[in-house]
Amino acid sequence: MAPENTYLTSQGNESERQADAARIAEQSLTLNLHTEKFLKDLPFESSGTLIDFGAGTGGAHPVLVNYASHIIATEVEEKKLRMAEAYAQTKELNNKATFEYRLGGIAGLELANESIDTIYGRLIWQHLDSPTRSSEMRASRTALKRGGIFAGEDMDLLTWRLEPTTPTFDFFIDSLIKLYQKKGTEPRMGPKLTALCEGAGFEIIKVNTYAIPASGNDRFKRLHLGIFQAVGGGFVGTGMMTEEQFKNEFAQLTADIMDESRTAHTPLVTQIAARKI
Ligand SMILES: C[S@@+](CC[C@H](N)C(=O)[O-])C[C@H]1O[C@@H](n2cnc3c(N)ncnc32)[C@H](O)[C@@H]1O
Repeated sequence: MAPENTYLTSQGNESERQADAARIAEQSLTLNLHTEKFLKDLPFESSGTLIDFGAGTGGAHPVLVNYASHIIATEVEEKKLRMAEAYAQTKELNNKATFEYRLGGIAGLELANESIDTIYGRLIWQHLDSPTRSSEMRASRTALKRGGIFAGEDMDLLTWRLEPTTPTFDFFIDSLIKLYQKKGTEPRMGPKLTALCEGAGFEIIKVNTYAIPASGNDRFKRLHLGIFQAVGGGFVGTGMMTEEQFKNEFAQLTADIMDESRTAHTPLVTQIAARKI
């Protein structure tokens, strides 16, 4: 049975491990171009301490090393933290910043008040239920220095589109929304980031949005499959689909998305920067 929370698909099998590595590389490459553009105009202390909340396999770290001298990567899955550590070594990121890898969220870190320069989190807030989101936000604000920056990036999954659409694509989007409802998490987190920051008493300094359209045989079409494949374990793990059903539906989804006559648009991503006043 596939694990419930699967940004990873590999179960120790070499070809699956290679598929994971290819997907992580694709996601990092694609999202990091936008992350870099977002962060480069913000007033960072480049010698400061940055928390990467929900760091996953460290996909954002090649960018984040340019905006801090010390990075605390937090993550609920130990296996991903170890992959993030290996990724930093492979990419020689340790020459640019020091890293600390911590299991769990920010609230569990017992940080000194006003000790952190930047809190960064990409595609993490959508995965939290409402009480966890509130306590992680409170902990973020307490840990930040005055004038420190909160930078978040998240999606609105309801804006994910295939044109012209197909029954299988619609079925996947529908299933995804049901999965989030089942878990009490937030599929429309992107547009809600502003209210989250304002509610915590931050001053908003920048908001951007972007989506990535891919037509014909554009290689960014693979990004969509990577994301759907990653959440597929959630469908299986929560009993929404059998493994066999997921496999068949995913094969059809692959054919639909890769169909050169269709254009796939990633969900709209909101990037928000806010300052602790
Ligand atoms: C979609 S991934 C994003 C990873 C990374 N930020 C990136 O952009 O490449 C979300 C990550 O958040 C982690 N996560 C979920 N809930 C968490 C929590 N309460 N505390 C810390 N990490 C969490 C998941 O395990 C997953 O690796």
